[in-house]
Amino acid sequence: MRLTFSLSLFAAAALQPAFGSTNVVSLKPRTRTNSLLISPAALPALPSAQQAASASADVGLNLTDIQGDILIGMKKNKELFFFFTIVNSTLFRSQLGSGILPLITPTSQLLAVDTQPTTAVNVAFSQRGLNALGITDDLGDSSFANGQIDNVATILGDETSNWEPVFAGSGIHGVFLLASDTIDNVNATLSQVQNLLNGSITEVYSLQGQARPGDEQGHEHFGFMDGISNPAITGFSTPLPGQQVLDLGLFLLGESGDPVVSRPAWTKDGSFMAFRQLQQRVPEFNKFLVDNALSNPNLTADQNAELLGARMMGRWKSGAPVDLTPIVDDPVLAADPQRNNDFNYTHSGFDIDTDQTHCPFSAHLRKTNPRAGLTPEDTANHIIRAGIPYGPEVTDAESAANVSSTDPTLERGLAFVTYQSDIANGFAFLQQFWANNANFPGAKATPPGVDPIIGTDGLGQADVSRNPSGLDPNDSTKIITIDQDFVVSRGGEYFFSPSLSAIQNTLALNVA
Ligand code: HEM
Repeated sequence: MRLTFSLSLFAAAALQPAFGSTNVVSLKPRTRTNSLLISPAALPALPSAQQAASASADVGLNLTDIQGDILIGMKKNKELFFFFTIVNSTLFRSQLGSGILPLITPTSQLLAVDTQPTTAVNVAFSQRGLNALGITDDLGDSSFANGQIDNVATILGDETSNWEPVFAGSGIHGVFLLASDTIDNVNATLSQVQNLLNGSITEVYSLQGQARPGDEQGHEHFGFMDGISNPAITGFSTPLPGQQVLDLGLFLLGESGDPVVSRPAWTKDGSFMAFRQLQQRVPEFNKFLVDNALSNPNLTADQNAELLGARMMGRWKSGAPVDLTPIVDDPVLAADPQRNNDFNYTHSGFDIDTDQTHCPFSAHLRKTNPRAGLTPEDTANHIIRAGIPYGPEVTDAESAANVSSTDPTLERGLAFVTYQSDIANGFAFLQQFWANNANFPGAKATPPGVDPIIGTDGLGQADVSRNPSGLDPNDSTKIITIDQDFVVSRGGEYFFSPSLSAIQNTLALNVA
């Protein structure tokens, strides 16, 4: 159902402060009484507006100029990804500055309920989109310039036959990200955006994400709490115990630590966004766990199946890390952000290079961030994960058959989003060199195998088995063959999410 947007939406837009001001206190109260973000106990809380204002002032960061999705993480309740082609560049550019820019939600605005808009709006552009706008600058990222399709074969290992055709084509110029607490709000704001753009764009694809219902809120579709271990970022968040503190420049262009020294000035405080539509075959995953359940004599069959899943992921479904609680779940630990990320795979009297009794080397969590398993600890290959589940819950019929339905309306998965200042060092690196690399981490007696959740053989071939070792705590050399994909890439694209001032001064057409 499409609703006409409410007066409060207009009012909210009208009350927005000029970006470029660091005075978040001047934001006017809105009609919102409940947050558009979710906040399960396990996830790190966002800084308050005052905390963030003070941390950002210390490093000269302007949170009113940075699009809100970049630093917020996996906290959206409902989020629509609306992919578009620009069909009238001049009209689009003029409407971008006058109509759309006041709707774009900066970070500062999301930190308190009473400053949040009805629907948060962000926008990001592909290289083709920038070309369509007449922007010819080199942004200093060849993955972005060439598009995700160029990464498919050797880097991501996707089978393009599974891709939504739109991602393999040339029609995606940009994406609007519309986030709210209800889909009606999202749809109303989409109508507003489309009206403002007045036919200058056409929709080429869209994907509606939503947090899972009830107690599953914050959990991805396999059932695991997600979004706990995003890094703390200098100038924004205060680190929790165990949370790695990383330079702003790993995520925001032109900030301290950006690996690319020379970029066009207007790209400062923008970020590259990697989008992936990752289908999850949940009934098949559940069946695999039952069929290959571990054999701890003190656990029931169900618990042994659950233990296998926890060891494949590196966390229990509750979010408790297996490194801290290796045999049984600990929901109290899981719900405590002071403790649930406070581990690095070291234990006294324990050889981190050989001992997998707590956490397998092949666990998704450990493959994508080995923490103290690398010396020195890696500080270059990190991402902010900001995705959201999409698709409905598993139906009774699918559960009974242990097979995902082929009905496209029942497809479910993760609308996977990461932000980084260098895609080849961020998302693409993690997928290629760690997840898809059976020999990472290296120098092990038995190769760990590829990531049992997201790893592929790296060649994009169908039906190649994955052979993780270390999943059985009693026999770390035992290999469990996974002869199917639980996560299937349906494609994606790389985007640039510019600062609000870049939208105004470089991307928009400013008619005097
Ligand atoms: C459908 C696909 C995926 C699922 C179901 C999934 C699920 C999860 C879960 C449950 C966690 C633990 C929660 C947390 O610590 O925040 C996690 C952590 C993580 N995932 Fe994924 N993930 C998926 C895809 C990916 C991909 C494609 C990448 C990168 C190539 C990735 C990188 C990470 C990283 C970096 C962490 C945090 C590791 C740490 O800092 O300890 N994930 N994922």
